[in-house]
Amino acid sequence: MKTTRCDRTAAWTRLGERFEQGGRRFDLRQAFAEDASRFDAFSQPAPQLFADLSKNLWDREVESMLLDLARECGLEAHRDAMFAGEHINATEDRAVLHTLLRTPADAEVPAALQPALRDVHATLDAMLAYAEAVRADHTITDVVNIGIGGSDLGPQMVVRALAPYVAPGKRFHFVSNVDGHELDGVLRDLAPEHTLFIVASKTFTTAETMTNARSAKQWFERSGSVDVARHFAALTTNVEAAKAFGIDTTFGFWDWVGGRYSLWSAIGLSIALAIGADGFRALLAGAHEMDEHFRTAPLDQNLPVRLALLDVWYRNFHGFSSRGIAPYHSALQRLPAYLQQLEMESNGKQVDVAGSTLGFGTSPVLWGEPGTNGQHAYFQMLHQGTDVVPLEFIAVRDPSHQLDGHHAKLLANALAQAQALMVGQADAGGHRNFPGNRPSSFFVFDQLTPAALGAFIALYEHRVFTSGALWGINSFDQWGVELGKVLAKDLEGRLASGDTQGLDASTAGLLKRLK
Ligand code: F6P
Repeated sequence: MKTTRCDRTAAWTRLGERFEQGGRRFDLRQAFAEDASRFDAFSQPAPQLFADLSKNLWDREVESMLLDLARECGLEAHRDAMFAGEHINATEDRAVLHTLLRTPADAEVPAALQPALRDVHATLDAMLAYAEAVRADHTITDVVNIGIGGSDLGPQMVVRALAPYVAPGKRFHFVSNVDGHELDGVLRDLAPEHTLFIVASKTFTTAETMTNARSAKQWFERSGSVDVARHFAALTTNVEAAKAFGIDTTFGFWDWVGGRYSLWSAIGLSIALAIGADGFRALLAGAHEMDEHFRTAPLDQNLPVRLALLDVWYRNFHGFSSRGIAPYHSALQRLPAYLQQLEMESNGKQVDVAGSTLGFGTSPVLWGEPGTNGQHAYFQMLHQGTDVVPLEFIAVRDPSHQLDGHHAKLLANALAQAQALMVGQADAGGHRNFPGNRPSSFFVFDQLTPAALGAFIALYEHRVFTSGALWGINSFDQWGVELGKVLAKDLEGRLASGDTQGLDASTAGLLKRLK
């Protein structure tokens, strides 16, 4: 790894001093009053969207110091190493090449990546041809994606977000939880002869997914249906395991696609079934536009980089430990959950790539709900609570419905909340006092198209890459999820036997209650 950890740079020390000398007490209202061009300086177009970062607690000097930090950390070299296919996922000795999944077939890539790019397009073409055939098959009315984590959150979020692009005649279901209530609830409404099950699992070993897949297959076979080949498809890097499970139709991908970065691969089959081959290609094209922006734009005009610099400034200097996501579009309902995995599983680490303990914070908690629902729930705390939570507004200019008046109200609410968070209401005392000076970023799409959504997801991927690079961590492993999986296996046996020997008193007590 060619990067230098952020806390070992001169810029880090200077940022600490800057924070103590004015950064901590930075006032947004004053900053706007003193700088007529603040909006222009801190807002920018990027592929498929516009971003306003001007309502954040920084000025040009702080941003310039943060850019120095990025340069001193060797961000550009690390970014180039990712695009070149170097094994930057050091703990798993793997390349990180989800960007290749959206690289056009005729694009120039390093010679070493050309075979992989050919494989990507061969699989993509086959997967999209299959998707089109199923779309044309009107006997299939229900598609059930069985997968969890990255094999669920990305596809589900995108299928819901692009609902207006989904052809009528098919319903899409997503089963992730090992809780049988979920699968049972879905199966209850299905007819086996009209259903396609997609078993989506990079490893094809994930306990939740395999349990749900087995139960779905049993349900299918018990109904007297035999044509598993027609009604089951697998999406996995473990083609052998899918075959052993009894599935013939398999679309593969590669170990250099991380689970939470996999919606662009065969894991996106449910998306392709929903929005068609052209829609899926547009999603990839939007993401590729953002890849090119990230790869080539100067750092000071590079939106994922600027966002990540703010993230570091907030997390490590202001000490903000969470970030709110407020999509002002109900179709983006699953976006906060998707971003939780993307950022928290990637950057929720306490050691650097070398395994040394970090003395500073990494991933914040991400959370959120579509506006305006959040306004009538937790926005009270955002306006008047004791913690500052930077908030991200996502708004779409053109609605995809024709109902009178709704959209103007929705957009007015988004603008009003961002405004209220910043300006506050300083002249009213006591319970009606709004301190203001609460930071937010604001993203604007013209329309929520497949291309726009693709670009937005890629924006976040690169933002997470950048903060992870500055923190010196490996954003592409997830060892933190392993321990619980091992313990659950042991406890599953104990729940059957009632054996509590060797368990701590709390786990033993609870196990007895649950048995
Ligand atoms: O347990 C975490 C995790 O490995 C995620 O990173 C991944 O997205 C999810 O499980 C599902 O994994 P798989 O696609 O292999 O079933």
